[in-house]
Amino acid sequence: MNTLNNIEKRIKNISEQYPNDMIGGFITGDGPIPCDIMFVGEAPGKTEVELGKPFVGKAGANFEKYLNSIGLRRDNVRITNTCYFRPIKRKISKSGRETISNRPPKVSEINLFKDILNDEINLVNPKIIVTLGNIPLKRLTDFKSIGECHGNLIFNKEINRNIFPMYHPSSLIYNKSEEFLNIYRNDWEKLSETLLSL
Ligand code: URA
Repeated sequence: MNTLNNIEKRIKNISEQYPNDMIGGFITGDGPIPCDIMFVGEAPGKTEVELGKPFVGKAGANFEKYLNSIGLRRDNVRITNTCYFRPIKRKISKSGRETISNRPPKVSEINLFKDILNDEINLVNPKIIVTLGNIPLKRLTDFKSIGECHGNLIFNKEINRNIFPMYHPSSLIYNKSEEFLNIYRNDWEKLSETLLSL
C-alpha cells in the first residue's frame, strides 16, 4: 500500500544498505499530505540531515524567504527531494585530515528513488510540482537545462502533473549579479500568478 510510513521505510532501507562512505545520512519529505503545492529539490545537505528536514540550511534560507514573499509558509507546502540521501565525497589531506563535502547525486542514485518519488507525488497529489534546479528537472521533464524552461508551466503527460521549473535557491549564493536576481524574483512572481490560475 502507498502510505507515508511505507515510503519512509523504503527510504531508510535503501539508505542503510548503500555504501557508508558514499552518503552521509538521509531524510524524508516534509509538509502536509495531501497538498496542492509540492517542491522537489536535489538532495539533502549536512544541515538537512542534522535537522531531519529538507531545505533548512543556507539554500533553505533563500527558499523560505522567497516562499514567504508570495504569501506561502513552509507548513502550507510539501517539500521533498529527488535523492533522499546526502551524497558525499571524502578527501584526505596530506596531513591525514578527512574532509567531507556534498556532491551531486549520480543518475544511478536518483534511479534508486525513482518509484519512491513517484509514490510520494501520488500520495501528496499536488496541483503543481515546482522543481528546484536541474536534478529534479531532468527527473520529471524532458528538458536538459533549467535555462531553457524556468518560470514556465509544463505538463508532464506521463505522470499527469503540472511542473513549474525554477532555479535552485543555492544559485543565489553563487550568482550574485543583479540580472540573475531579477530573473529569480520574476520566476517567483510568475509562480504566484500561476498558482492563482490553477
Ligand atoms: N538542497 C536541496 O536540493 N535539497 C535540500 O533538501 C537542501 C538543499
